[in-house]
Amino acid sequence: MIRIGVDYYPEHWDRSSWAKDIALMKQTGVTTVRIAEFAWGLMEPIEGNFDFGWLDDIIKMLGDAGIEIILGTPTNCAPLWLYRNYPETLSVERDGTRTATGLRGHRCMESPLFRKYAARIIGEMTKRYAKNLHVIAWQIDNELGANHCCCPVCAAKFREYLKARHGSLEALNHAWGADVWSGEISDWEQITPPVGQLYSYNWYNPGYLLDFHRWAEQSTTGYIQFEIDELRKAVPKKIPITTNACFAQHSMDFHQSYVALDVAAYDNYPETIYPDDPEAVYTTAAALDLMRGVKRKNFWIMEQLSGPFGCWSAMKPMPRPGQIEGYGLQCIAHGADMVLYWRWHAAIKGAETFCQGLIDHSGVPGRRFEEFAHFCKRLQSLDWLDGTVVKSPVAILYGATQMDAFSIQTQSEGFDYWEQLKRWQNAFGGLGVNTDIIHETADLSGYKVVVVPSHFVTNPVTVQNITSFVMNGGTVILTPRTGVKDEDNGCLLAPLPGAFAELAGCTVEEYDPIGKRDVGIDWAGENLTATVWCDVLRPTTGRALAAYTTEFYAGKPAIVENTFCSGTVLSAGVCGKKPLLRKLAKAALDSQQVKYWDTLPEGVQCTTRESADGSVKGRFLFNETAQIQSFVLAGESITLAPCEMKIDRI
Ligand code: GLA
Ligand code: ZN
Repeated sequence: MIRIGVDYYPEHWDRSSWAKDIALMKQTGVTTVRIAEFAWGLMEPIEGNFDFGWLDDIIKMLGDAGIEIILGTPTNCAPLWLYRNYPETLSVERDGTRTATGLRGHRCMESPLFRKYAARIIGEMTKRYAKNLHVIAWQIDNELGANHCCCPVCAAKFREYLKARHGSLEALNHAWGADVWSGEISDWEQITPPVGQLYSYNWYNPGYLLDFHRWAEQSTTGYIQFEIDELRKAVPKKIPITTNACFAQHSMDFHQSYVALDVAAYDNYPETIYPDDPEAVYTTAAALDLMRGVKRKNFWIMEQLSGPFGCWSAMKPMPRPGQIEGYGLQCIAHGADMVLYWRWHAAIKGAETFCQGLIDHSGVPGRRFEEFAHFCKRLQSLDWLDGTVVKSPVAILYGATQMDAFSIQTQSEGFDYWEQLKRWQNAFGGLGVNTDIIHETADLSGYKVVVVPSHFVTNPVTVQNITSFVMNGGTVILTPRTGVKDEDNGCLLAPLPGAFAELAGCTVEEYDPIGKRDVGIDWAGENLTATVWCDVLRPTTGRALAAYTTEFYAGKPAIVENTFCSGTVLSAGVCGKKPLLRKLAKAALDSQQVKYWDTLPEGVQCTTRESADGSVKGRFLFNETAQIQSFVLAGESITLAPCEMKIDRI
């Protein structure tokens, strides 16, 4: 069953409104509601004094109405008494001060004292609700990022991590190249998290910073495991446990953190106004493909955009007609089996007063609510999608390590790792080809084409997997900044693309971090444009497909094709603009005889959901533009309104 529902904060509303809310939810077609993820203060108003009366009541009322419940552990927001009585439970910021209270997410995830109280509140919750038949899943905490806390406990844990990773100070100094700027470490106690003046972050040793990011991600994974262990003391195995991921300044390592969780869940807040720049890739399709790729199975949307929102910034333009339903269906088209809208109604108090919900402050359901209701009804006719999955011929590789390494050392103005992945998803999605965004060390069997966007920190497993994939006849697209670093974040002493050079059939003669300038490319008589980065390629066994037409390296190769065993490697020396990437995507698909649609207008994507045996069950055509789009697909004339989703049962 594909679930639909809302995030609901009954604790902020007069009880007299609960019955009315639930009746409207039921009438609208809401199947599932998430509650309680910030309500520790109400559950334990005084240390050791618990009050679950309100939660008992709302769970009973929702359950009686046949609405399923997802319960959040409230550990993102401990009550003020905890922080006041035990200040060491607060995290420490980069400037060395304890995080200010009165916000949320203040806790140090490693603090033993915090964990003691977190375990107790989780225990109290599971005592009451672990076996409640209406509670169908648990969410851990809220939007966890990598733990960048700089407190003494975290500093000690970071040092333990480094000891385990490097073994000795000698090895650590060597790995980091600590002799640069007299940074040699002679005592483990000299190592701290990167506390200090904020502006100097990128002046720290990159080996040290990458290890800190790795530790911070591992720490969050450990925190998730701690909560799983506490929940599982009472929560039966058949009840899934998840957490809601988002992209933040320091995101968690999704692939590592979700291993022990049962399902991946994502908070999806797409754009409401599309940029005028035709080169902009504003779609959230890549994020959805990544979330499905995390566990390589269908996923959930725990929060979905429902209204204009702001508080930390000015309010954003409200969802345009079609976006409430269209974006919800886009998630399903990419493999979501649940979409919960954040939130049922707009808060009337608190910092997020202007992060609106489906129902505005007036309390009168309006246009956005009607669209949500329409979506709920439409979903009831889509039950044939139950049990279907998304199968993709194309994989795009992703690694948190690469994301971290590029955040530590920006390669060129405009160079952004995640942006590159989005652009590749866009190149294939616009041809109606499903893409999986999977971990860089994942098994590649079953794929026809693999894109390796900027594999900067060379992972030997990836090198091995890619080599075998090509030897077995697959097609690989390599892009700039591949094979540059070793795993300690030091540069490798070899012509680029380093460990991939033989596969690529070319090396990088020199490179030009060109930034936001445009360069011209000639590909078999077609003039194309690239930007951000230019590798001047020198073919060895490969042959040049395209050459630069501008800059002092005009005439030199920009794209090289190589045949290696029975496979093909396309090396792009540039971060192409959309037409260039589209052409590369087609060349890769052609080399594998993968069919694609060549008639979709820009901004229209086509995806499919398949049965377990791979036969296509549903085709989704989504117009993610602000204009009406008319086109012909397989002989059929199709017109889609802005944000309209057409679904065909096959
Ligand atoms: C995140 C949080 C929510 C809320 C929304 C507002 O997704 O998880 O609690 O703050 O953002 O957009
Ligand atoms: Zn800490």
